[in-house]
Amino acid sequence: MQKKDIDWGNLGFGYIKTDKRYVSNYRDGAWDEGVLTDDDKVVISECAGVLQYSQSVFEGLKAYTTEQGQIVTFRPDLNAERMMDSAARLEMPPFPKERFIDAVVQTVRANAAYVPPYGTGATLYIRPYMFGSNPVIGVKPADEYQFRIFTTPVGPYFKGGAKPLTICVSDFDRAAPHGTGHIKAGLNYAMSLHAIVSAHKAGFDENMYLDAGTRTKVEETGGANFLFVTKDKHVVTPKSASILPSITRRSLLYVAEHYLGLPVEEREVYFDEVKDFAECGLCGTAAVISPVGKIVDHGHEILLPSGMDHMGPVTQQLYDTLTGIQMGRIEAPEGWIHVID
Ligand code: PLP
Ligand code: COI
Repeated sequence: MQKKDIDWGNLGFGYIKTDKRYVSNYRDGAWDEGVLTDDDKVVISECAGVLQYSQSVFEGLKAYTTEQGQIVTFRPDLNAERMMDSAARLEMPPFPKERFIDAVVQTVRANAAYVPPYGTGATLYIRPYMFGSNPVIGVKPADEYQFRIFTTPVGPYFKGGAKPLTICVSDFDRAAPHGTGHIKAGLNYAMSLHAIVSAHKAGFDENMYLDAGTRTKVEETGGANFLFVTKDKHVVTPKSASILPSITRRSLLYVAEHYLGLPVEEREVYFDEVKDFAECGLCGTAAVISPVGKIVDHGHEILLPSGMDHMGPVTQQLYDTLTGIQMGRIEAPEGWIHVID
């Protein structure tokens, strides 16, 4: 198969239209069989539930070319399960797990020419999403839904790749206690846009959100969970019911414990403790692990000892092991790698 003529090494995190996308519609209480289509346009009612009351959920995962030349995805079963949880919270019908995985495989296979070659640093980002598609004017769930998957080749989420980021403690809240912070709903991202634009205008790469209830505990950023490393090399990650259960973070904790032999702690992390950590990283499908060098809290700067030039040593080990597993250089735990071709 002839790969597309793309400058893989210089891709940012953007949208490039690929050849095929997957579409399935939910009507009269059932999902249809689903198809791959060339048509990248969505035609829905002006009164569609998603347009009026933001009834939409999504996922994000990647396809990789391994060192052996296979195309694989990473733990798509967990994205399928999380999307079912997200849908349930917004009163949307679940898209069945086996069908989700099959739809991912079909879409990636149909766009194999866009899966970046091994060693380029780029990957194929896969975006499954679902939205209420029929007219809804009283506040209630839609009766009809569309599930779609498109793909786009991407490079690093943050400009500068692995250069440590400077982030700020946000004055805005991302998620309420007992709200929707733990699901991947578009509405969580809409409400973060003003906060991220404000952070960028002030010269920061990202926001650190604190818990909305007490504003004393670290939650997450707009698009990634936090990992911290203590001076005695414990890997610590915030536990909260209002953050997204990141698949990358769950995988990294396993890697820390079982591949690197490091103690791991998933617990509440008070902002007051952050000054004592040795390393900090943002983890997610898009972010992979992006190191944080500086955290600014209303003018007060916390400089991580790992500095502004490179990742801290434990962050680097975690990064190398996780990407090694994804790219076929390191043996994966049972069930983590889903081979497509
Ligand atoms: N937190 C938020 C708010 C996100 O949008 C994402 C991205 O999906 C993550 C965390 C990381 O989750 P995952 O590792 O499953 O991609
Ligand atoms: C992902 O990592 O897949 C996300 O959805 C994060 C988003 C901010 C791009």
